[in-house]
This record gives sequence, C-alpha cells and structure tokens, in this order.
Amino acid sequence: MKKWSCARCGWESSKWYGRCPECGNWNLEEKEVSAAQGKAQAQPSCQVLPSTSLQAQKEERIPTGFGELDRVLGGGIVPGSAILLAGEPGIGKSTILLQASSRISRQGRKVLYVSAEESCSQVAARMERVKAFSPSLFVTSTRDVDEAVAAAEKLSPDLAVFDSIQALSFPGSGGSASQIREASSKIIEFSKRSGTASLIVGHVTKDGAIAGPRTMEHLVDVVCQFEGEMHTSLRIVRSVKNRFGSTDEIGCFEMKGEGVEEVTDPYGIFLARGESPAPGKCVALAMEGKRCLPLEIEALCAPRLRGESSQRAVNGLDYSRVAMIAAALQQHAKIYLSGRDLYLSTIAGAKTREPASDLAIALALASSFKNSPLPGVAAIGEVSLTGRIRPVGMMEQRLETAERMGFKAAVVPAAQKDLKERGEISLFRVDNLNDILQLLR
Ligand code: TYD
Ligand code: MG
Repeated sequence: MKKWSCARCGWESSKWYGRCPECGNWNLEEKEVSAAQGKAQAQPSCQVLPSTSLQAQKEERIPTGFGELDRVLGGGIVPGSAILLAGEPGIGKSTILLQASSRISRQGRKVLYVSAEESCSQVAARMERVKAFSPSLFVTSTRDVDEAVAAAEKLSPDLAVFDSIQALSFPGSGGSASQIREASSKIIEFSKRSGTASLIVGHVTKDGAIAGPRTMEHLVDVVCQFEGEMHTSLRIVRSVKNRFGSTDEIGCFEMKGEGVEEVTDPYGIFLARGESPAPGKCVALAMEGKRCLPLEIEALCAPRLRGESSQRAVNGLDYSRVAMIAAALQQHAKIYLSGRDLYLSTIAGAKTREPASDLAIALALASSFKNSPLPGVAAIGEVSLTGRIRPVGMMEQRLETAERMGFKAAVVPAAQKDLKERGEISLFRVDNLNDILQLLR
C-alpha cells in the first residue's frame, strides 16, 4: 500500500499531490506502508458500543417555581441548555423571567439577570413590584454581549437571563438578523461550555415587524412564545421547539399588578362566561398537550354588502380549514355561505389547529346562518371533504372536561359507537354534516 508524505511538515495522503497543500513544499515523498498499518490508520477514535450496554443520561432539571412554565419546558430547565423566550414588546417577558429567576434563586441556586434594556435601579424598581429580591439573584446592566457573557462566566450561575437579545446585539437601534445570530451564538456557546443554562429574551411581533429572533430558533434548544392580547390579562406560554419535551403543552398565566400569577385551573379561560346563548356560537374541546381546554368559537355569516366583494376573516383558526368546512357545509348541508361575509374568531386569543375542532366550527357557522342558538353544546369531530364526521382521538378526556364544565350536550361522531353517555351530558351522534341541521331549528 502506497502513501505520500511531506518531508517538511509531515502531512500525509493516500493520493499523490504535486505540492503539499499544508505547507506548499514540492515533491512529496512516496512511502510503502503495510496493509495492517494502513488499516490501523483508518481506525476511528470514537467508541462503538452495543446499544444494550448504554445507560440513558438522567437529565437534571431546574424547576422554575412556576408549575405552568415547567410544564411547557418539559419539567424544568435543563442545565447548560439555551432557551429563547419570544414575545411582543410589553407582553410581560421581563416580568415573568424576573419572577422565575427569583424563585429559582430561592432554591439555593445562583442566578444572573443581565438587563440590556434597563439600568440596575430600574430593575430594582421592578423587583420591588414583583417582590423578587433574593441574595442569590444577581443583576447587571450592560448592552455589550461580550461583557454580559464575561460577567456570567465570572459568576458561574446555574442560570443566566439575557434580556433582551436585540438590546445586546445592537448598541443603537436597528441592526440585522446576522447581528442577532452572532450575539446569540456567543451566549449559546458559553452555556454549552460552562453548564450555565441561558434564557434569552427576544422581541417579536405578530406581523413579523421584528423578526430577528426567528433566525436564532435553530440555534437554541427550546423556543417558547409568550402570547396574549395586550388589552386582556391572560398570558399563555407555548413551546414551539423543545429538544427536551413535547411542543404541544401550554402554560396559563394572568398579568396582575404584582407580576404574573399562574392559572392552575385554566379550563374556563377560553369560554365567554355569563353571556346568554346567541346564534353563531359553539364550543370546541381542544387538546393542548395532555390537557383538554374547551374553547368557544364564534361565527358570523352576514349578507354581503351590495356592490362589495365578500369578506372572510378568521382569528385563532386556520383560514384554509375554515374555507374547506364552509364549502362542505354548502355542498352537503345546503347551507349557502357563498355570497355571505364570513367572520370567525376564538375567545381570549385561543388558537386551535386541531381537526377535532372542525365540527364546532361547522356548528358555529350553521348556527349563525340559521340564526338559531346552541345553548350548552360542545362539539368534537373532524369534518371530511365528503361531509362525513370522522372520529378523533382522546375522546374520553374531552368528554370528561365537558362534563366538568357543565355542558348539557356533546355532538360526537356517530362512527365512535363505543362512546357512553356520562353524567349530565347527553350525546348527540352525527354521521354527516346534514345531521347537524336537526340541532338547529
Ligand atoms: P414587561 O415585562 O416589561 O414586558 P416585556 O419585557 O415583554 O417587554 O411588562 C410590561 C407590562 O406589564 C407593562 O405594561 C406593565 C405591566 N406590568 C404589570 O401589569 N404588572 C407588573 O407587576 C409588572 C412588573 C408589569
Ligand atoms: Mg422587557
């Protein structure tokens, strides 16, 4: 077996080169190596082990002191991981993170809170408001990411919060996505090297006006979104990426004068409580991770204004899914929605993309069209293009929640024959969209 090596720098290759690519020396020397030697060179340095001899690494977690936040993170913060908390400016990111930092520090862990947007005394004013003072919670204020990382390196805390990546990326206003990527890479690299978990705040807007942090989503381990309507006090934390847990869990909070508070019993937050029954409303029983949260769907089918083209707008629902259900209603239940303006919305900023919510959307639309209310009714089922109502999963959990919430009736797919009536709830079984007309008189 032949080999060529450079007499000056020792670079070796199994192929012939006129000139050493390493040092530029001409005329590489030819060597003869035995097959055994050649083979020995190809030996990998990584160990190859039988899978049965492996032991899974037990991941330690840092509880945040908020059960709702831990649920979203998959059980707490993994040491050395990097988490992005994204949300609109003013939604409450700094508030919840300062509270979580304080709670974590009270477990006897060291936490550093780097504020790039406020001075230490401004942070102190906020800490006073949310009662976050704690001897192992440290605060610094800088707009220089290198300085922030150096401070964290020196303190060596269990968790470092960087608030916010925008303020740490550009000294002035403006700046680019690549600056955000560069700054966040420095933080993430520090976390991986030191074992200090980092929580990075990123401002984003719904319309994408501030979209920089999106470019760092693939760099971090976990991406959480902090959502809510500014005019209401309800706040939701949702994970959109999680290397250490599932991404369909949500955490519910309420913004109060003294910071955020967990809503541990969130089952009624997406319902319009205390309103009298009205046409155009139906409740979907949507799964958010392991929890079923009933959510009210409101629909309005209004006659199109003369001379105007028809309007369609949805909020919290998937636009194309709604268009498909509207077309199926027209085709299979003779509910003529073309030529009407259609508006659909959920309550309190709830979102559902689940096919199991289809039937509630269809019922809300049909109820508005027929001007006939559906009091105390929840619906579960997927609508197919042929107008059939298809079975969906997790039926028991959904019905259990409906019963707990005091619903009188649940509309369910007739195809799910094994479903039993439970408690006060009567089941109304529908096979196709035409069957729902019997509920609307
Ligand atoms: P903040 O955490 O500063 O938002 P972000 O960091 O996402 O930009 O929250 C700002 C809003 O929250 C502001 O309008 C004041 C309100 N707020 C409360 O309602 N209660 C509180 O305890 C605090 C600290 C803020
Ligand atoms: Mg802030």
